[in-house]
Amino acid sequence: MSCRCTSTEGANTFFSEEASQYLKKFRKKGLAKEQRYLAEGILSTNVTGKSILEIGSGVGGLHLTLLKDGARAAFGIDLAEGMVDGAKQLSHEMGFSDRASYRAGDFAHIADEIAEADIVILDKVVCCYEDVDDLVAKSLSKTRGVYALSFPRPIFPVKLSFQTMIAIGKLFKWPFRPYWHDWDAMLKKIRADGFQEVAHRDTFVWAAYVFRR
Ligand SMILES: C[S@@+](CC[C@H](N)C(=O)[O-])C[C@H]1O[C@@H](n2cnc3c(N)ncnc32)[C@H](O)[C@@H]1O
Repeated sequence: MSCRCTSTEGANTFFSEEASQYLKKFRKKGLAKEQRYLAEGILSTNVTGKSILEIGSGVGGLHLTLLKDGARAAFGIDLAEGMVDGAKQLSHEMGFSDRASYRAGDFAHIADEIAEADIVILDKVVCCYEDVDDLVAKSLSKTRGVYALSFPRPIFPVKLSFQTMIAIGKLFKWPFRPYWHDWDAMLKKIRADGFQEVAHRDTFVWAAYVFRR
């Protein structure tokens, strides 16, 4: 079995176990700060009647909020089955079961089967996946208008904490560990694909960018 496959299975197990915590946090506190920044940037592009594809959608708080704000429909894909179950539960609770649909799987492996959308979101996902070039290229190709993503800021304390986690993960052979990629190179590829920045705000840990084609 290839290395990438193993980490995908590890991510499924890890994030499926985390799903109940994600649900609890969203029900109690709503969107996290970086998600609010993404939502504000996306809303500035006018979401009325637009379709959303959220990759690594977790329990769905971000796209469900955008549905509340006027987006027409959302499709969430996550490689963790527990996250997809959580998102279905939350969309039902928030009254959006008819406008939100979900699929469990690795987006990069099944991209050919996934429809394009007006707005594509990857919130804290690129640091959970080894082949970031493939993930970004395939997700850009699904974007008709707006591309929004968040990722760890390339500053010393954030890089150090991620690299410490990565080193410990490797040492103890964790089934899942995060990844540190060349974030500037990633942004360059997004811009080279014809996307222009419409919003950018940072929390201490996360950079949240919104681009438009
Ligand atoms: C840190 S969590 C963030 C979840 C959600 N975006 C949020 O911010 O609450 C990253 C999520 O991305 C998912 N993920 C990572 N790589 C993925 C891929 N290639 N396809 C689908 N989901 C992926 C993981 O399973 C996990 O649920």
